[in-house]
Amino acid sequence: MDVYPDIAHETRIVVLTGAGISAESGVPTFRDKGGIWGKYDVLSVATPEGFASDPRRVWRFYNERRRHARSVEPNAGHYALARLEEILPEGSFTLITQNVDHLHRKAGSRNVHHMHGELAKVRCTQCGKVRETLDDLPELPQCSCGGLLRPHVVWFGEIPFDMEKLFSLVEACDIFLVVGTSGVVHPAASFVIHAKRSGATTIGVNLEIPENRGFMDRFYQGKSGEILPRLVEFWARCLIA
Ligand code: OAD
Repeated sequence: MDVYPDIAHETRIVVLTGAGISAESGVPTFRDKGGIWGKYDVLSVATPEGFASDPRRVWRFYNERRRHARSVEPNAGHYALARLEEILPEGSFTLITQNVDHLHRKAGSRNVHHMHGELAKVRCTQCGKVRETLDDLPELPQCSCGGLLRPHVVWFGEIPFDMEKLFSLVEACDIFLVVGTSGVVHPAASFVIHAKRSGATTIGVNLEIPENRGFMDRFYQGKSGEILPRLVEFWARCLIA
């Protein structure tokens, strides 16, 4: 049987999730067998240069992912994290996700930071206005100002959103839990290092051994949809005791 670290009411928990937490909902990961980067050229569809040279190709890729996102539902892993937020005191829980899907919010999580942006948002390349929609868009969608819209996601070569705030949350937490990410894409992959250096207990949950496993005090190997409900159930009991 797995042994989990105890928590108390004053414990501040920060969770970082990656594509693995949505895998059991049918959302493909990036680097596993059959993953997105095995099918698409990352430089063509996920860089500012790729968008500048062929915005139609980039929009085709994102429109397909947006269409797929409309059909997926949260799984037990997403619901467990939503429950964790509910049982902890207000302000003690932060969820950072690298995922651009909306499954954490759909499961009921409220304090979610989408550091790599969101599939359901678009941004004007001219006026900068951000709009929320998961509807089908034309091949080259336009803003009301006439500017070309782009997906409101972070591409390689761009800086993820809210980094200063996220690093300060990571450095102030007592428990840092990292779920379903291969640990190869920075800066997200370095959060666990910062958390550990700042004195947090670091915990990993992943199907395979992630690149940054060495910085995790505890590691639970398996599906997040199976491990997270057990972990959160244990923590719920700690708070009652
Ligand atoms: P990856 O595809 O690199 O890694 C997914 C991880 O999830 C792997 O380590 C799998 O072993 C694990 N995994 C798969 N199924 C799982 C399950 N059911 N339960 C637990 N773990 C499971 O995806 P990320 O690490 O999220 O960025 O990728 C990071 C970033 O790289 C993405 O946000 C995206 C991508 O390129 C941008 O597009 C900027």
